[in-house]
Amino acid sequence: MTDETAQQHKQRVIGVFDTIASGYDHAALRFFVFAADRVVKTLRPRPGQKILDIATGAGAVAIACAQAVKSDGRVMAIDLSQAMVDKALENARRMGLTNIDQFHMDADALEFRRNYFDHSVCSFGLFFLPDMSKALNEWVRVTKAGGKVLFTSFSAATFDPMANLFVEQLEARGVEMNNPPFASRRLSDPDVCLELMRSAGLGSASIEVAQVGYHLQSVDEWWAVVWNSGMRGLVQRLDEKTQVEFKNQHLASIQTLFDENGLWMNVEVLISQGIIPSR
Ligand SMILES: C[S@@+](CC[C@H](N)C(=O)[O-])C[C@H]1O[C@@H](n2cnc3c(N)ncnc32)[C@H](O)[C@@H]1O
Repeated sequence: MTDETAQQHKQRVIGVFDTIASGYDHAALRFFVFAADRVVKTLRPRPGQKILDIATGAGAVAIACAQAVKSDGRVMAIDLSQAMVDKALENARRMGLTNIDQFHMDADALEFRRNYFDHSVCSFGLFFLPDMSKALNEWVRVTKAGGKVLFTSFSAATFDPMANLFVEQLEARGVEMNNPPFASRRLSDPDVCLELMRSAGLGSASIEVAQVGYHLQSVDEWWAVVWNSGMRGLVQRLDEKTQVEFKNQHLASIQTLFDENGLWMNVEVLISQGIIPSR
């Protein structure tokens, strides 16, 4: 990607996340909070430590880390979308947490000095970065030797069969999809995650798989997932009238997937982590 296309890509990402920030902590999207708990279990931050949460979104990981490092520790939470930074701040205040600082900052141009953080973490953000290696090297730079760099991504089967239907039905209406259709699929292959960690010089690179899915109880809940996530931008490539037709058709086909427990939403998370070598 040229520098110019990378900048255009980032502007698009900002546009999407500024739009969806207000609904990002909708209950149908609670897998972010479930995943954050798993992240903290794997990261094991200790009281007093300094943690960087990259691409914080509504702050799920930052909040879980802030609770783990207790009042002597500190979490710096950064995001490229100002609306997300505001949302994370609002959520931290609501939880009564005073040990999180939120900043509007680009994940691949961190304004922190070398060896500053005990650990750096990025949940569901790395796949949005135009140059994933460059970003990971930046995270390695600001993390102390012996500390961990951890990132999460979704396995290829996450949100299926709903996500595949969503893509097929949009394509049938003439929407041109990116390849892959969802940015998250750039990091669905564990080998790609391992290779990224190795080439950034991280030691003991490993991947854990965690299932944080649940049953949705109505098609409206699935639509809440679509409308409050990056999928909304794809729907909005249609004109308004066609968006309504698409929604009706899509939700009618989703309805057929329900069983007596509801609609299973598979959310399989890859938790990748490596250790900063001594330097
Ligand atoms: C899927 S959300 C992650 C949510 C959060 N980490 C969580 O697990 O709940 C992705 C976030 O990445 C942010 N993002 C995308 N590109 C970024 C960049 N270059 N620098 C910082 N944040 C970025 C978006 O604004 C969005 O808030």
